[in-house]
Amino acid sequence: MTAALTPTGSHAKAPPMNILLVGSGGREHALAWKIRQSPLLTRLVCAPGNPGMAAIAEVFDIKPTEVARQVALAQEIAADLVVIGPEVAIEAGLADALEAAGIPCFGPSAAAGRLESSKAFTKAFCDRHHLPTSGYRICDDAAAAKAALNHFAPPYVVKADGLAAGKGVVIAPDLATAQAAIDDAFGGGFGAAGARVVIEEFLEGEIGSLFALCDGKTSMLFGWAQDHKRAFDGDEGPNTGGMGTYSPAPVFTLDLVDQVDHRLVRPAFKGIASDGAPYRGVLFVELMATRHGPKLIEFNARFGDPECQVLMLRLESDLVPYLLACATGRLHEMPQPRWRDDDAVCVVLATQGYPGPAQSGSVIGGLDQTFGEGVVVFQAGTSAGPDGEVLAGAGRAVNVCATGGDLSEARERAYGAVALIDWPQGFHRTDIGWRALAR
Ligand code: AMP
Ligand code: GLY
Repeated sequence: MTAALTPTGSHAKAPPMNILLVGSGGREHALAWKIRQSPLLTRLVCAPGNPGMAAIAEVFDIKPTEVARQVALAQEIAADLVVIGPEVAIEAGLADALEAAGIPCFGPSAAAGRLESSKAFTKAFCDRHHLPTSGYRICDDAAAAKAALNHFAPPYVVKADGLAAGKGVVIAPDLATAQAAIDDAFGGGFGAAGARVVIEEFLEGEIGSLFALCDGKTSMLFGWAQDHKRAFDGDEGPNTGGMGTYSPAPVFTLDLVDQVDHRLVRPAFKGIASDGAPYRGVLFVELMATRHGPKLIEFNARFGDPECQVLMLRLESDLVPYLLACATGRLHEMPQPRWRDDDAVCVVLATQGYPGPAQSGSVIGGLDQTFGEGVVVFQAGTSAGPDGEVLAGAGRAVNVCATGGDLSEARERAYGAVALIDWPQGFHRTDIGWRALAR
């Protein structure tokens, strides 16, 4: 595998690689699209994948959390590398099982992944290692959570402790709404994730998503973007997993990037290693750029979805050597990644009703066409119908992405392509990138 890591020139001599990519979202479709372009690749297998991924890779119907079956698949295809997309596989210990089987894996152990899977763990981690974040209280019952509200001013931030696919957060403008959110969480409204609740100080500022790779020792920044978490235009409506992204985002000045690197990224990797769980994979730092510098909103142990989509469109370097270098402890051999000068935009199309209950199974038409210049369309929660139609799930289903010479051009191209998709049961935001354009 050594040649695969040589930064330039020797790709042609690199041994062929079989890669297993775990997951089925827009993030994984974007990763598959980028991995597919690598001259190092022989075979790309995705599990479970989606109809969009099936067009560019082999797919096997195995869930990300079916750890033993994923490991068996990796062995069967003689995988040289397994790339884990979603957090549920990390929490389920897929990286640990792959390590035990001697298969290089991009994605942290379950212990290192606790930076995402438990907000309470992360808050204690920030205290222990002096990372800047919001003030907080962790509460195990509704009465304690309601009492904790007295220590904060509105708007109140009420979060489920565990994984809730970006939906376990309520920003409540007043006490009554916050109390209702607490009752909802302990009443099962956030699923098992809500058995414990974190009440947080509200951070004022502009939000950002920054990504950093680590191989257990060496770290490297790997791009940044801005997401739009609310469901509707003007940042109205409930929080979602993300309704659209753009990159580069002007909130990330060189100074902010440097501060995030030194105050959050490096201390996080050092801290988690000193806690006995060296981090191998990508760390997603969701932060608020406040008047007092960057403050952590949350860590995620994976690429962002839909941040990954715009990063992959802008990444000029081959992705595969970076993934492999993280998995094999050789990130120090890698040069800084190269990014295209282009801007990139991703518009998420979701089934009406998302992030609440929504009807799955509607037909998405128009995906099978040649879109305009710079446009790439990824699929997320889709499945194949009996006659080969693409059927939407109950959430985010399609990511229409485009690059352009500037943000306006990228946006025009993306929304031009959105208009070509025939899906009356879907909805999308029409203002992706507004903060950058409003500057
Ligand atoms: P999370 O699931 O923790 O990423 O939170 C979802 C969204 O809620 C974030 O993207 C922010 O827009 C917002 N949010 C979360 N925590 C805070 C906070 N402490 N202060 C202000 N906004 C927050
Ligand atoms: N887009 C935010 C996330 O992936 O959690």
